[in-house]
Amino acid sequence: MSQTMDQNLQQEVDKRRTFAIISHPDAGKTTLTEKLLLFGGAIRLAGTVKARKASKHATSDWMEIEKQRGISVTSSVMQFDYSGHRINILDTPGHQDFSEDTYRTLTAADSAVMLIDVAKGVEAQTIKLFQVCAKRGIPIFTFINKLDREGRSPFDLMEELEQVLGIRSVPMNWPIGSGRDLCGVYDRMMNQVELFQGDDHSVIKVQKVEDYNDPVIREMAGDYLHDQLCQDLELLDVAGDPFDYEKVLRGELTPVFFGSAINNFGVQTFLENFLQLAPKPEPRRSTAGIVEPTNEKFTGYVFKIQANMNPAHRDRIAFLRIVSGKFQRGMSVKHVRAGKDIKLSQPQQFLAQDRDIVEEAYPGDIIGLFDPGIFRIGDSLSQAGDVVFDELPTFSPEIFAKVSIKNALKSKQFQKGIDQLTEEGMIQVFRTVSFDDIILGVVGQLQFEVFEYRMKGEYGVDVQLQRMPYQFARWIVDENKPDPGKFRINSTLVTDKKGNFVVLFENEYAMRTSIEKNPSAKFLETAP
Ligand code: G4P
Repeated sequence: MSQTMDQNLQQEVDKRRTFAIISHPDAGKTTLTEKLLLFGGAIRLAGTVKARKASKHATSDWMEIEKQRGISVTSSVMQFDYSGHRINILDTPGHQDFSEDTYRTLTAADSAVMLIDVAKGVEAQTIKLFQVCAKRGIPIFTFINKLDREGRSPFDLMEELEQVLGIRSVPMNWPIGSGRDLCGVYDRMMNQVELFQGDDHSVIKVQKVEDYNDPVIREMAGDYLHDQLCQDLELLDVAGDPFDYEKVLRGELTPVFFGSAINNFGVQTFLENFLQLAPKPEPRRSTAGIVEPTNEKFTGYVFKIQANMNPAHRDRIAFLRIVSGKFQRGMSVKHVRAGKDIKLSQPQQFLAQDRDIVEEAYPGDIIGLFDPGIFRIGDSLSQAGDVVFDELPTFSPEIFAKVSIKNALKSKQFQKGIDQLTEEGMIQVFRTVSFDDIILGVVGQLQFEVFEYRMKGEYGVDVQLQRMPYQFARWIVDENKPDPGKFRINSTLVTDKKGNFVVLFENEYAMRTSIEKNPSAKFLETAP
C-alpha cells in the first residue's frame, strides 16, 4: 500500500515543471504564455491571458487597479498539461514597475525562462529578475523572440548574455536568415529544420535532416542562407560551449532557443526541449534539513499574499508552494508559526477569474488558500512537524516615500492598514529616529500606487505620499547604538518595524563615506 503511494507520489513529482517567465515589458511574455497555454488547451478555459492594449482586461488582472491600467500588477499562476507533463507557469508582472512580489514569486519556481527581444537584447528588468534567479542558482532557459523582425546577430546576443549577465550560452537551434528573410530554424540537438512556408509564414514544416550540410536545407533556403548557416554553425561547433547538462542545472549555462512567439514559430520545439531539460520540483532547505518532494508528509510555504482578488469578497488569498507530499482538500496541517492545526478546506487553482476548487495537488503545484488574516509571507504548513523553509529573502528597498494621513481621525485604521500591508510584504515601513515620521520603502513605484489604492479601498483612509530622495537602505549592526547625528548628510537614521536601526542613503557616495567612517559597524542590505 505504502509502496504504491510512494510510486504515485514519485510519478506526480516527475511529471511536474514549475517555472517563471522573466523578461522586460514588451518582449512578448504575454504572447508566449498564451501560445504555451494553447498547447495544453488551457487557454480555452482562461480566455486570453492579457489584453494587448491597456483598455482590455486580462485573465490575471484581478485587482481594479490592474484593470484600470491594463497591466498585471500581481503575479498569478497558470497550470496546463502537455505530453504527460503538468506545467505550472508563475506569471510575473510585465509592467516595468514591479514589486517584491515579483522577486518572491521567483523563489517558488524551479527554473526560469528568460525572454529576450531579438532587436533589444538584454534590458533593465531582465537584468534584475535574472539576478534573483542567479542567486538561487536555478536553471535559466533563454528564448530569443521576434525573429520575424530585423534584429541583432545571434552571436552579438550571446556575447551580451555573457557580458551583461555573466552567463554562458549554448544555442539549441539557430536561425536560417533573419527578419524578412527568415525562413526557419535549424535544431542542433535533433538535427531537423523547421521552416516557414507560405507568404504569411503561416505554415511550419518540420523535416529531419542528416546535419546542417544537408542539401535539403539548401533546396529550401537557397544558397546564400544555407552558406551563412553552415558558416555560423561551424564556428559554433568549434568555438561555442558544448552542451553540458550539469552546468545547465547549476544555472551556469543557458540553453538558447530562437523563435517568434506571435507566429507560434519555434514555440512547440522550445516547449518540448524545455520539458526534457527543466528540473522537476526540487528539494528545499528547511530548519529540519533538506525536504525531498517525495517525502510522503505534506509540507509547503506561503510565498505571497494577495488581497481583494475579488472585490465582491473581501478575502485575502495566500499562495502556497507545495514542497512535499500530497495535498488533499480538507486535510489538517500544522500552521508552524502559530503552533496550531488548521483545516485546508477551500483551496483554489489560479487559471482564470473563475477559481476552481482543488481536490488534490502535488509538489511543484501552487494552491491558493483563503486567508482570514492568519498567514504571513514565509509561513510553513506541515504534516511533518515544525518545518520552516528558508526560501524567502527580503529585498532591499530602493524607492522611499513619507506617508501621512489626510484625516487625523482615521489614525487607527491608518495604523491597521500599515501593519497589515507590511505583514503581507507589500511595503516595508520605517520610522525616522528624529521626528517619528513614517517612511515606506518599496522596490517598484507601482507598489506605492497599489498601497494608496488599498488604504482607501480596504481601510477607508486617504493617504498622502511624498517621495524622498533616498535610494539605498542599509541595516546597521553595531555594538553601540548608532548616533543619528552621524547620518545627517544625504542620509537619515530610521528604525524598521522590529526596531532594528537602518540608514537610508541618497546616493552611493554618501553610503560609501558612512561605511568608511564607521568601521566597527556592519551595513547589511536586508534585515539581520
Ligand atoms: P509583454 O507581455 O512581454 O509585455 O509583451 P506582449 O506579449 O504583450 O507583446 C508585446 C508586443 O510584441 C505585442 O505587440 C505583440 O504582438 C508583439 N510580439 C510578441 N511576439 C512577437 C513576435 O514574435 N514577433 C513580432 N513581430 N511581434 C511580437 P503590440 O503592438 O503591443 O500589441 P498588438 O497590437 O500586436 O496586440
